[in-house]
Amino acid sequence: MDPCHTSRWASRSSRPGGSAPEAATSRRLTPVAGVFAALGLIFLPALAGAADAARGKAIYERHCVSCHGTSGRGDGPTGAALASQGTPARDFTKAEFVLDTDEDGQTGSPADLSAVIRNGAGAYGGSPLMAPWAHLGDDAIADLVAYIRSFPQSAPRQTP
Ligand code: HEC
Repeated sequence: MDPCHTSRWASRSSRPGGSAPEAATSRRLTPVAGVFAALGLIFLPALAGAADAARGKAIYERHCVSCHGTSGRGDGPTGAALASQGTPARDFTKAEFVLDTDEDGQTGSPADLSAVIRNGAGAYGGSPLMAPWAHLGDDAIADLVAYIRSFPQSAPRQTP
């Protein structure tokens, strides 16, 4: 893949105003992170390791709605722009997941969804417009997976 092509997509993905620059995002997150840390000290013994769709919803609404939409249909403002350019963000309500990251013959499994969120779709032959979100951390990614799987009809499906 030639580097010009890649950077053209990368700059296009940041243009429509969906994702704030990295530095600004983490500055905004700091007070929120403090609150979560405090809550964590209180609830951690009960919740250790449990992915939580409600927490995932909050993270989703902060980082993912611009493309995937509040409804999960890929109809956020940036998602609509991407669709008109031929790269729609995935519709989570249609069980139409395509990336089989662990090559087990199934797409949309928790392992596949967390790998795509962590490493970006580009790592598995998909669009680099679906960027890597590893910096959110494993717990947040697990919560996001739980939330995405809570959309109706988003159960895993077999690849043909
Ligand atoms: C800049 C727009 C954009 C943002 C922001 C974005 N996505 Fe995506 N996402 C996409 C696009 C485009 C695709 C389709 C990729 C493809 O077709 O290869 C996608 C696909 C996906 C998929 C489907 C993978 C599959 O197997 O079909 C998941 C899951 C996903 N995104 C989760 C997320 C989560 C969680 C967030 C927030 C942390 C997020 N996305 C933020 C654009 C975005």
